[in-house]
Amino acid sequence: MESRRLGPVVGLGTYRTFEDDAGLARDVVASALGSGTRLIDSSPMYGAAERSLAAALDGRRDDAVVATKIWARSTDEGRAQLDAQLRWYGRVEIEQVHNLVLWREHLPLLERERAAGRIGRIGVTHYSPSAFDELADALRSGRFETVQLPLNPHERDSERVLLPLAAELGIPVIVMRPFGAGSLLRSPPPAEDLAPLRAFGVETWPQALVKWVLSDPRVDVVIPATSKPERARENAAAGEPPWLGPEERALVERLAGA
Ligand SMILES: NC(=O)c1ccc[n+]([C@@H]2O[C@H](COP(=O)([O-])OP(=O)(O)OC[C@H]3O[C@@H](n4cnc5c(N)ncnc54)[C@H](OP(=O)(O)O)[C@@H]3O)[C@@H](O)[C@H]2O)c1
Repeated sequence: MESRRLGPVVGLGTYRTFEDDAGLARDVVASALGSGTRLIDSSPMYGAAERSLAAALDGRRDDAVVATKIWARSTDEGRAQLDAQLRWYGRVEIEQVHNLVLWREHLPLLERERAAGRIGRIGVTHYSPSAFDELADALRSGRFETVQLPLNPHERDSERVLLPLAAELGIPVIVMRPFGAGSLLRSPPPAEDLAPLRAFGVETWPQALVKWVLSDPRVDVVIPATSKPERARENAAAGEPPWLGPEERALVERLAGA
């Protein structure tokens, strides 16, 4: 089968970081793109983040892979969300059904738009283990080409069914919440505890967590969110091999208190 993989690479999330500040978004996006990041994830659920991202990509749209979402309680609302995205971005490389909301109903439109070339791939997302059975059913439908799910040393439910299933079906995996929405960064371990990870290019605790995620061979993209340009650079720097082995991953898990 032709490879459909997207990674392993570091992308950028936009939940609660861009808000309606287009200037901030421009600086963070410029830093991320300048550090080799391509995929940027957004959603109509993230306030004005989609609009801020569009402004930030003005003049450099071709440098980015836009992964956004349909989060709509009716097919009419879904159509309106897609129309706005096409005005902002011209095309959507990865269009995901957010939190499985009305996924069967939204698919016919998304599949027509993909056939017309305005959408690249169709994906699906959920953040909650309580929805993982339905997320697995959605993947088994054969109609999705990416899946977005949470994975970090404290949130590993996706390892049980979803990651093996995605690997079996050849569906690229995008990982949200690599820092547990920031909770894993509140009391970082002392710098000397990271010494065994230096040979893997890890200098900081956020980089250890990013690399922990990407070192799972079933993962394609990890999308940490930040509102700070220098942190976008720091996170992106963890997207290069060498990848961690089982011993180093176990160390990160211990340091995370998992
Ligand atoms: N589909 C879904 O259901 C769903 C749900 C959740 C998330 N997502 C996607 O996944 C993305 C990532 O998840 P998330 O935003 O919830 O959480 P996250 O990426 O795990 O954590 C983001 C937090 O980490 C901080 N941070 C980032 N880099 C840092 C660094 N190098 N040093 C210190 N702090 C750092 C950020 O604060 P600063 O801004 O201060 O740097 C922010 O508060 C989202 O933005 C969104 O695109 C999707």
